[in-house]
Amino acid sequence: MKAIRIGVFGAGRGSAFAENAQAAGMELVAVCDCNEDRLRHLGEHYGIATYADFDRFLEHDMDAIVLANFFHQHAPFAVKALDAGFHVMSECAACHTLGEAAALARAVERNNKIYMLAENYPYMRFNQEMRRLYQEGTIGKFLYGEGEYVHPGSARMWLSISVGKDHWRNWIPATYYCTHSIAPVMYITDTRPVTVNGFIVPRDLSDDSYAYHVSRNDTAAMIVLRMDNGAVVKSLHGSLRGHGNYVRIHGNKGQMENCRIVDGDQIRLRIEPFGKDCEKTEEKVYLPDWPGHAAAVEAAGHGGGDFWTNYHFANAIRTGEQPYLNVYRAIDMSICGILAYKSSLQQGAPIDIPDFRDEAVRVKYENDNWSPDPERRGPGQPYPSVLGDLTPTPEAVDYAHEVWAEQGYTGE
Ligand SMILES: NC(=O)c1ccc[n+]([C@@H]2O[C@H](COP(=O)([O-])OP(=O)(O)OC[C@H]3O[C@@H](n4cnc5c(N)ncnc54)[C@H](O)[C@@H]3O)[C@@H](O)[C@H]2O)c1
Repeated sequence: MKAIRIGVFGAGRGSAFAENAQAAGMELVAVCDCNEDRLRHLGEHYGIATYADFDRFLEHDMDAIVLANFFHQHAPFAVKALDAGFHVMSECAACHTLGEAAALARAVERNNKIYMLAENYPYMRFNQEMRRLYQEGTIGKFLYGEGEYVHPGSARMWLSISVGKDHWRNWIPATYYCTHSIAPVMYITDTRPVTVNGFIVPRDLSDDSYAYHVSRNDTAAMIVLRMDNGAVVKSLHGSLRGHGNYVRIHGNKGQMENCRIVDGDQIRLRIEPFGKDCEKTEEKVYLPDWPGHAAAVEAAGHGGGDFWTNYHFANAIRTGEQPYLNVYRAIDMSICGILAYKSSLQQGAPIDIPDFRDEAVRVKYENDNWSPDPERRGPGQPYPSVLGDLTPTPEAVDYAHEVWAEQGYTGE
């Protein structure tokens, strides 16, 4: 089988795709990053072509591009790559504004190329098993679900991966990084969110991990979604204490979740049909099998998810059929974060989630550039925190420069 030649844009997270490419029948041939150290490191490690400029990178002879650049800049680069004739797999989020969502959906359709969101959390072991159970009807009709991605850390840890005052991790609102918690629920149940309510846990200025951190966004976000089958979903993510990644699905015949303690890959399944006079229940806790490729999966990061995104992307290219995490689902889950922030600023008011499968919707939103990005700031644009325009303390600024200097960064 001829290897699919891929180029990776962004040599931080991009190195994970490089690591797992071969196992999925892909060959890494080029990397692009304007960070010289990262570029040199990855280029030398794999002996591949290096580019500092995206347009030059697109001139390289290859089949597909993986976008692992800044969180808020994926869509414009995806459009450019699709228009240049490449298949695209994009890291989360798919888009940063509703206007970008319109442009992205159109670019995929106009070029007839494969587009996939590299959302790896649905492909974790327990999520794939919960999808299998749900699709077999084991817990009945989907009524309520939860997805959690809680990721606290020290000021040093965050600063070391958020170099520069306006690095995206220092300002994206707490609702925006929502696909790790929403995607698994959508994948397991095949439902689509139709309305969103957002609630922010405001930045806790007394939190020790923030005292020396220059970020100016909030602590965490809770998002409530109404799905297209009427089910309710709670998504929780951010820097609350209690690191964990957790999914829970309730049906009208049973319930399932990954375990919170001991081994988070294990599943607890409760069958509770409770028909007329039926009181019989069953419960089991078990470690599910992988649906194949166990050796390659065990070697990959993020609970195996990093293997499966490459695998499904390669399969989609070979078959010519758009993957499960196609552009429409990518947009559905990404814009939950944008609209949840809008909702948070309106005391959690419900907001409809437009469906970008429909060209009339795209026309309506094509000029919607609402964003808290400090570089795009204009009238009516929100600040990254519900508390307003936060100013880091002088101690935090000094500490940030100390950490960044260790990486050779001397800018603002
Ligand atoms: N799915 C996951 O588990 C997971 C894990 C980590 C990160 N991510 C995602 O991956 C993406 C990248 O994350 P990261 O931690 O590597 O971020 P990062 O900001 O550290 O790295 C982005 C890289 O892209 C390069 N870049 C950006 N714009 C460029 C341009 N115009 N020209 C050349 N190079 C450019 C930067 O120099 C930088 O090296 C983000 O979207 C993040 O959300 C996903």
